[in-house]
Amino acid sequence: MNDLLRQLADEIEDYSENIASIKPVPQVSLEEIKSYLNKNYSFETPINLRELSGDVIRVMRNWSLHAGHPNYFGLFVPGTKTASVIADALVALYNPQLGTWSHSPVSTEIERHTLRFLLEKFGYDPNSSCGSFTTGGTEANLSAVLTALTDKFPEYCDGGVRALLRPPLIYVSEEAHHSFIKIGQVTGLGHTAVRNVPADDNFRLDMTELRKMVESDIRDGFEPFMVVGTAGTTSAGVIDPLIDIAEFCRERNFWFHCDAAWGGAAVMSPQLAGALKGIEQSDSITCDAHKWFSVSMSAGMFFCRHPQAVSKTFQASAAYMPASQTGKVDSFRNTLQCSRRFIGLKLFMTLAELGEKGYATMIEKQAELGEFLRLELIEKGFEILNQTPLPVVCFTHPALAESGLSTAEVLRELYSKREFWISDTKLKNKIPALRACISSFRTDENTVRELVRTLQLIVSKKAAVSRI
Ligand SMILES: Cc1ncc(COP(=O)(O)O)c(C=O)c1O
Repeated sequence: MNDLLRQLADEIEDYSENIASIKPVPQVSLEEIKSYLNKNYSFETPINLRELSGDVIRVMRNWSLHAGHPNYFGLFVPGTKTASVIADALVALYNPQLGTWSHSPVSTEIERHTLRFLLEKFGYDPNSSCGSFTTGGTEANLSAVLTALTDKFPEYCDGGVRALLRPPLIYVSEEAHHSFIKIGQVTGLGHTAVRNVPADDNFRLDMTELRKMVESDIRDGFEPFMVVGTAGTTSAGVIDPLIDIAEFCRERNFWFHCDAAWGGAAVMSPQLAGALKGIEQSDSITCDAHKWFSVSMSAGMFFCRHPQAVSKTFQASAAYMPASQTGKVDSFRNTLQCSRRFIGLKLFMTLAELGEKGYATMIEKQAELGEFLRLELIEKGFEILNQTPLPVVCFTHPALAESGLSTAEVLRELYSKREFWISDTKLKNKIPALRACISSFRTDENTVRELVRTLQLIVSKKAAVSRI
């Protein structure tokens, strides 16, 4: 056991401290992985645990995309703080069942304590609102839609969507996260019940278009009931006009959900929190700890101003479950999940270790690096396509359009070098863009300079070749 634990501790220490010295981008084929597994893991003969752990460490190191690497500028997958790694190990060891208070007294209260702290940060009254940990942003967004349906349509709980008089509609920007497509499907509302509102020139939900669409849908016999504002869109990291959406929803008695899955962490920074103004007027919020809060997956959060609607949405009783006790929250009554991992410990421990100020410093440093990246790109002839105080930068280079080079070709060349990882996207589903997000707290100015230099070389080399 000692040996095994030493091996694990050594790996945690070495990986965390020396991650910069390994290649962030793997070079391995699907066939290579499959044949390795087939050859070594037929499960016929037991394998010694130390040897087994050693092999898992080796393949994970060699054949993973290392998102915690300073050179990963990716899709909101963070580097993980050590407190979060330790928390996850302790959770696996004690394995408390978070579904009921009786099985997890201290774990449930640690989660509630952490959620109350964040409820306050988001401007909700923790005494009259509620929060829960989810598997991620998708489950939190789903919880929001289910709760809004329950709250706005009393007949929905028992009769489902078929009991509703008119077809209900949700409005999201065309730049909103694709979880809402799935949510349309799984709630039984259908894909067409999720209306895509065009975004404006800075990729934010366009209020004029929203108003027009709602008017026209009502005239056509539909029943709009919910608007989603995103705080930190997945492609461009921009923040929808939250104050205007809040006002519009108040006028119309619609549910206002704010999807702050990534950008919500800005609430920790006195400098950046102002960018989220309007979020405090929402009916519900999605915020993922496993994104900008830099804890390991998976850890989402759902916050709601209407605890009774949440309880009604997820109510279920069964003779075999422990009876409810006053003041003691059984989370199976307030969330979609039943058996649930102690998700909140990693955020609790990371918050406690860094302190509020430590978090603010980490997040502000990443936002400053985003600005530094913009300036470096401009200096090297790239064009910035989005505007946001948050560290997502969408960009292109005139040479791409001139020489007919696609962003995919640039990425292919970049990945083949195995030194950096950025992504590409299409803004408003049509404007091709390279996309870099400051995702790792390990990234610094040198990393940013090196990334831009590498991209500049790739673009100029590719453009020269295509001109020949
Ligand atoms: C804005 C936004 N909302 C929701 C999600 C979904 O979160 P998850 O992947 O944790 O389900 C994402 C994921 O990137 C996102 O960017």
